[in-house]
Amino acid sequence: MDIKQLDNKKIPKHIAVIMDGNGRWARKRGLKREFGHREGKKAVKKIVEACAELKIPNLTLFAFSTENWKRPKLEIDFLMKLLFLSLKDELNNLNKNNIKFNTIGFIEKLPKSIYNFLIKVKNDTKHNTRMNLTLALNYGGRNEIVDVVKSISDKVKNNIISLKKIDESLINSHLYTSNLPEVDLLIRTSGEKRVSNFLLWQIAYSELYFTKILWPDFNKKDLLKAISSFQKRERRFGKTSEQI
Ligand code: FPP
Repeated sequence: MDIKQLDNKKIPKHIAVIMDGNGRWARKRGLKREFGHREGKKAVKKIVEACAELKIPNLTLFAFSTENWKRPKLEIDFLMKLLFLSLKDELNNLNKNNIKFNTIGFIEKLPKSIYNFLIKVKNDTKHNTRMNLTLALNYGGRNEIVDVVKSISDKVKNNIISLKKIDESLINSHLYTSNLPEVDLLIRTSGEKRVSNFLLWQIAYSELYFTKILWPDFNKKDLLKAISSFQKRERRFGKTSEQI
């Protein structure tokens, strides 16, 4: 699969990825799970670079879910450290490549040093325009919807908005992803066919792409295959084929 085989006019505007299979990648090699995460980090870098090259304006990666706190403490500590070191290593690169970094999820619950560094990276990259790279950290889709309901209810209670004004676009504007377009393509690696509480509202009309490839093995060629599959699908949004 080559970049030239893609249709330039049908490049997805927003790709979201559930990066799954780091643990299995390591186990298959008789290694500890941490090795899988370390390789997973290398795959993140490759995919961010490939998306920038392909002119995909928005990439959102599921890096840590609200459910991931249930993992052994040592693994959580390792993931947090890996995140911190990766961001430190990549901050210059993000700026050099004009990539704006953002997060979705309740990052206030992350260790203070990481929280502070996330804020710094967001701040230092906020004027970049080539691509939005969003990491979902301590993120859960249902949690996000609960937050939206709370903030809208609060505004209704305080007469800031009237009940009549509540519609899809108002909900969109209260999501953590209010700055992003809808997800065109959701990719999940490792063979699991679930959405696991990721971007529940935002994937209503997304094309779903599942691959058996484990995340650390997922590379640019696999990304091109996913985009090619996306380009072959007819997105009808409820209309008939003839109306498209
Ligand atoms: C899923 O594999 C992966 C995660 C829970 C964490 C994602 C983390 C990375 C890709 C590494 C670094 C990321 C950044 C952004 C620096 P799993 O552990 O659930 O694998 P398994 O299902 O095979 O056990």
